Amino acid sequence: MVSSIFPSARPFAPALVLLGVLLWLSAISGTNAEDTAFYKSRPDLYPLNLKIESSYPKKLSPGYYFITPYWEAKSPGPYIFDNDGNLVWCGWGNSGGGVAHGMHVCKYQGADHLCFFQGNQQKGYARGHGVILDNQYRIVRSVQPGGGMASSDMHEFRPVDDGKTALMTVYQQRQFDMTPWNIKTGVGWVMDCVFQEVDVETSEVVFEWHSLDHVDPSLSYTFPTHTDTSGTGLKVTEPWDYFHINSIDKNADGDYLISSRHTCAIYKVSGKDGSVIWRLHGAKPSFKNLNFSFSQQHDARFLYENATHTVLSLYNNGDNGFNQTHPFSSGMIVLIDHIENTAMQIRDYGPPGKAIHSSSQGNLQRLPNQNVVMGWGNNPFISEHTEDGELVMWARFTLSKTIMNYRAQKFEWDSNPSDSPALWSYARSPELSSPTSFYVSWNGATRVKTWRFYGAVNLTGPYTFLDEVNKTGFETEYTNTSFYTWTKVEAVDRNGDVLGTSHRKYTFVPSPELREFCRDKTCRDASFYGFSGDDGASSSIPPAGVNTVPWVDPYNPEIWSQPSNMPKQTIYAHQGNWTIGRLLAGGTLILVLIAFTASAVYGVRYYRKHQQQFVNLHESAEPLNGMAERKFSPIRTANMPWWHWRRWTGEDDEPHYFPLSELSPQ
Ligand SMILES: *[C@@H]1O[C@H](CO)[C@@H](O)[C@H](O)[C@H]1NC(C)=O
Ligand SMILES: *[C@@H]1O[C@H](CO)[C@@H](O)[C@H](O)[C@H]1NC(C)=O
Ligand SMILES: *[C@@H]1O[C@H](CO)[C@@H](O)[C@H](O)[C@H]1NC(C)=O
Ligand SMILES: *[C@@H]1O[C@H](CO)[C@@H](O)[C@H](O)[C@H]1NC(C)=O
Ligand SMILES: *[C@@H]1O[C@H](CO)[C@@H](O)[C@H](O)[C@H]1NC(C)=O
Ligand SMILES: *[C@@H]1O[C@H](CO)[C@@H](O)[C@H](O)[C@H]1NC(C)=O
Repeated sequence: MVSSIFPSARPFAPALVLLGVLLWLSAISGTNAEDTAFYKSRPDLYPLNLKIESSYPKKLSPGYYFITPYWEAKSPGPYIFDNDGNLVWCGWGNSGGGVAHGMHVCKYQGADHLCFFQGNQQKGYARGHGVILDNQYRIVRSVQPGGGMASSDMHEFRPVDDGKTALMTVYQQRQFDMTPWNIKTGVGWVMDCVFQEVDVETSEVVFEWHSLDHVDPSLSYTFPTHTDTSGTGLKVTEPWDYFHINSIDKNADGDYLISSRHTCAIYKVSGKDGSVIWRLHGAKPSFKNLNFSFSQQHDARFLYENATHTVLSLYNNGDNGFNQTHPFSSGMIVLIDHIENTAMQIRDYGPPGKAIHSSSQGNLQRLPNQNVVMGWGNNPFISEHTEDGELVMWARFTLSKTIMNYRAQKFEWDSNPSDSPALWSYARSPELSSPTSFYVSWNGATRVKTWRFYGAVNLTGPYTFLDEVNKTGFETEYTNTSFYTWTKVEAVDRNGDVLGTSHRKYTFVPSPELREFCRDKTCRDASFYGFSGDDGASSSIPPAGVNTVPWVDPYNPEIWSQPSNMPKQTIYAHQGNWTIGRLLAGGTLILVLIAFTASAVYGVRYYRKHQQQFVNLHESAEPLNGMAERKFSPIRTANMPWWHWRRWTGEDDEPHYFPLSELSPQ
């Protein structure tokens, strides 16, 4: 057996040490491993890691954290993490292209759904629509504003009234006479900040409000050309964003609460006629602020109201990226006394070390148990606090400073995805005693308690039950002591019911030449072509038709072919010379490693010669379309009969091609 070169290699300890050093070097040269995670069962996801920097689990509220990282994120989109920082759902691309913002659990048609904005990010605003996903992560509704205006902006998409209507923002540029702002030789452009309440089923606009109808642009603290998002006012593509609406809330009376970043004010708006009932803070406040101020704030929410008082929450940025009004950003709860016409801050939620300034975005969500969850906007942090302000969780979701997150929120969530569990299985060699490792995950599933693992010799089974193990984190790893060519996994809930089954997966087994670089439970990525020291090595092009994947007849699934680079023992039995050739190649490789610096070039050439013989012996299958750049004509030897000796020896330098149906060495 080829794997027997390993025991024989033991005396060559220096070679193994060298190999180890090489592997270690390639490991530490791996790039930004901390910014994104990697899961063997879902290599298509490059999810962000949530690194919990401090946590007091007993003081955390139940539920999951919902975030939507974007900007320079490799995989922007909606994410769900649990209290331990484990990924639960990476929705990158799941609900369409572009970015997502403000994902939260909402009620729609009597059940919990996921609601968020999805669309294209512009500077300071966005164009897109609201989406509603059911608890199987299927889009069941998209919602767009009406009235002959722009599509939805990202700052708010919030279904209310059990999902019958939705609140959404629209950023609509308007022609405006800007002579007071020294635009005197033509029309100026202002961003009118609109919000609508839209009927989710019919798209009918139930309520519409325009900032330009109610708030004078002269009350803005952000002037044309003032900041990165303010606009010049000179062009339709650069409207002056004097208002910058960034949240909408609605109370039981049908009135609205909106936050304007650029007037540094929060407005209560009448649901009857759109008039401004009162203004908190800003240039023309309705109340005397007793012991607080804020600026560039976000996420204003009604918490409590009675005839004489209003309690609301907000996120005070205190910073617009150019000037600071506060030493750090913080969450605030404010009590308004409508008899005395005063406003007083009653709660304060600060960052650890009191040192974080969020120049944009950020939010504060009060949970049913009175804990508070905050997102720190353009800073990649989320936090949870008890009601009285104690920090009970602090986490960062990326090392990169250029990844941002508009809001972070927390909800209880139950989901059973329509997709099936994902499985990757691996064994270092196809010997019966070679362990098989399983890597299983189920993106978005919240009900899985355990995984049941199965193995089989044939695709169609019978499948042997191997073990049932607890789900751990996003991806659970399990290793059985025996080799199984085919594997599958069942997801089991706390009652022992099967929630879903993976597809049947063909176990990845490295070819004999690759095997010596692989470990028992997995095989790491190669980080260069050829071997270490092969300066300038590039990808080589094998003869077309080397069978590298298992092939299954879809109509007769019990018939499948093993890849030719994973020889069966029966094949070895017929090809003793070949086996010896492989042994020589393996031995040569070890020698090459020992005398690495002295004989690298010579050794690699020697190895490649052997490799070429191996390839020649195992070519099969038809040449593939689109592979026209192959060096050799596929015609010549394909015309030879299958029994022609030249097809079965490495003597001819020309490669050989013949149809799969003719290959039956067994
Ligand atoms: C309204 O709430 C405030 C704050 O909780 C309380 O002090 C006040 O007595 C309440 N007023 C009425 C009329 O219930
Ligand atoms: C920053 O503060 C200075 C001094 O008050 C002011 O002149 C300037 O306009 C401010 N810039 C921004 C972008 O807020
Ligand atoms: C504001 O004043 C009230 C009443 O004195 C006090 O309870 C509260 O802690 C103060 N808040 C801040 C942030 O100073
Ligand atoms: C696998 O399938 C082949 C071909 O159908 C059959 O001969 C063999 O007995 C099967 N092996 C097992 C373990 O079922
Ligand atoms: C491997 O699978 C066998 C069943 O074929 C089972 O009896 C055994 O416990 C499993 N071993 C491990 C280590 O899980
Ligand atoms: C699996 O989970 C159960 C229930 O949470 C627990 O009692 C058990 O100890 C866990 N088993 C292992 C091996 O961790």
